[in-house]
Amino acid sequence: MRQTIRFLRRGKIVEVGNVDPMTTLLDHLRLTEGATGTKEGCGEGDCGACTVAIGRARHGKVVYEPVNACIQLLGMVDGAEVVAVEDLAEETELHPVQAAMVEKHGSQCGFCTPGFVMSIFSLYQGTDGAVGRDEINNAIAGNLCRCTGYRPIVEAALSVCASPRDDKFRKATEDTAGVLNFIADDSDIFIGDDKRFFAAPASIDALAALYARHPDATIVAGATDVGLWITKQLRDLPKIIHIGRVRGLDGVEDTGREILIGAAATYARVEPFMRAIDPDLGELFRRIGSKQVRASGTVGGNVANGSPIGDTPPALIALGASMELRRGDRPRVMPVEDFYIEYGKQNRASGEFVTGLLVPKLRSDQIFRCYKVTKRFDQDISAVMGAFRFTVDAEGRIQEARIAYGGMAGTPKRAKRAETALHGASIRDTAAWAKAFDALRADFTPLDDHRASASYRAETAHALLGKALIEAAGTPSSRTRLTGQREAIVHAAE
Ligand SMILES: Cc1cc2nc3c(=O)[nH]c(=O)nc-3n(C[C@H](O)[C@H](O)[C@H](O)COP(=O)(O)OP(=O)(O)OC[C@H]3O[C@@H](n4cnc5c(N)ncnc54)[C@H](O)[C@@H]3O)c2cc1C
Ligand code: FES
Ligand code: FES
Repeated sequence: MRQTIRFLRRGKIVEVGNVDPMTTLLDHLRLTEGATGTKEGCGEGDCGACTVAIGRARHGKVVYEPVNACIQLLGMVDGAEVVAVEDLAEETELHPVQAAMVEKHGSQCGFCTPGFVMSIFSLYQGTDGAVGRDEINNAIAGNLCRCTGYRPIVEAALSVCASPRDDKFRKATEDTAGVLNFIADDSDIFIGDDKRFFAAPASIDALAALYARHPDATIVAGATDVGLWITKQLRDLPKIIHIGRVRGLDGVEDTGREILIGAAATYARVEPFMRAIDPDLGELFRRIGSKQVRASGTVGGNVANGSPIGDTPPALIALGASMELRRGDRPRVMPVEDFYIEYGKQNRASGEFVTGLLVPKLRSDQIFRCYKVTKRFDQDISAVMGAFRFTVDAEGRIQEARIAYGGMAGTPKRAKRAETALHGASIRDTAAWAKAFDALRADFTPLDDHRASASYRAETAHALLGKALIEAAGTPSSRTRLTGQREAIVHAAE
């Protein structure tokens, strides 16, 4: 058992004991270290001003990902290298990313600049050759600039990524990975006492035993929800169990017929597997939060939080996915749709936690579509999310329709009446479509809130089902979509 957090800063191992469970990485940097280059804007993962790069050892090298330090708990960086904006320059020489920002006039008031620099730094480290504008836009979608405007910032990123990668981080990558492997040991972490603690078990058995002893503890995976309970709701979370160190829990595996997703696997790690199932799933994942959110947030957390507007549950339900839970030494498996009982109530016993998800891949007779409707294209939570899987036989008849929505009820939910209306009909039978549209209205009492009115949601759900059917009947998405066209995505992947 270890009673400290260990991480790497500027080439030195930092070991911190006596950490309050709710201490954020941003507070540690600014208040404890005095490293005030990292800024606080929104304090909720939206603006990117607090972006830092987290380096982890993989295959003998260091992989850097950007995270929002404002909602990252300090204990979560155990075993990692933390790189903040002050760490980039070498004596008086700016890092190439910083130099490009100066040269392209990428900064005015400068408040957002450290965050942009760290997002572009992570992109610079994660790529080798020139990087296209789309990839850059994707890399900085979680960073907000209120005065400079994005053109010069994008140009700085284009220019620095066009040059060979040559900086002290690249030169030291193997040595740094060696140190990270050394500090990321296999001991369970427990800091505090039985009333107030931060714990990060190293094995699934240790996690199960600890949670059985403290079923009132808060499980934390990526903290992209829980972080906001601390910074925005000002809740006191005296007992935190972080699952990110549990050996094997962050894995994703393709068994041939299904994808197994560990409960601690981040969106960034899961995305390529989902994209391989269907391009719409890849696009859905790409639009969840920002690079920073996807580097921390997990699919397991998205399912477990029980939100009616989480993006992945409708897609998982339409795909017929199951989830694995465990309480003490007792595992159980259930369909994801059975997890949601009513708003704020899930089928999870005290002391029970999610260990993983099993997502069946599509068969050749199955057609999948999903659409996320938001006010803003990037970094926004859905007003309505619709996911559809049609199993169609050789005669073109719908053998099974699985239709699931988010934002249409107090939980993610299937549209069972609409599904029944389509059963056995030809996929091109517009009279059956009309019956399904009518049935859909009876399926839901949509939410009515600041994101969208109930009537907007009802109309949108209808339109999405219509689009799914039109596309499933053979119309190319180049005729049905302005963005995220499947043909373009499939072509880009080839
Ligand atoms: C800026 C921003 C943008 C976002 N954009 C989106 C978006 O586009 N779409 C979307 O759906 N969501 C979005 N979110 C919400 C959030 O990122 C997701 O819900 C994410 O999947 C939560 O995962 P996590 O690992 O961070 O969960 P955490 O915050 O660690 O936990 C979330 C909840 O799940 C519980 N939990 C986590 N893991 C387990 C487990 N293994 N067993 C039992 N309980 C568990 C926790 O106790 C907590 O109640 C956004 C959040 C932010 C801050
Ligand atoms: S301060 Fe805005 S994302 Fe952290
Ligand atoms: S330079 Fe002022 S907010 Fe971006």
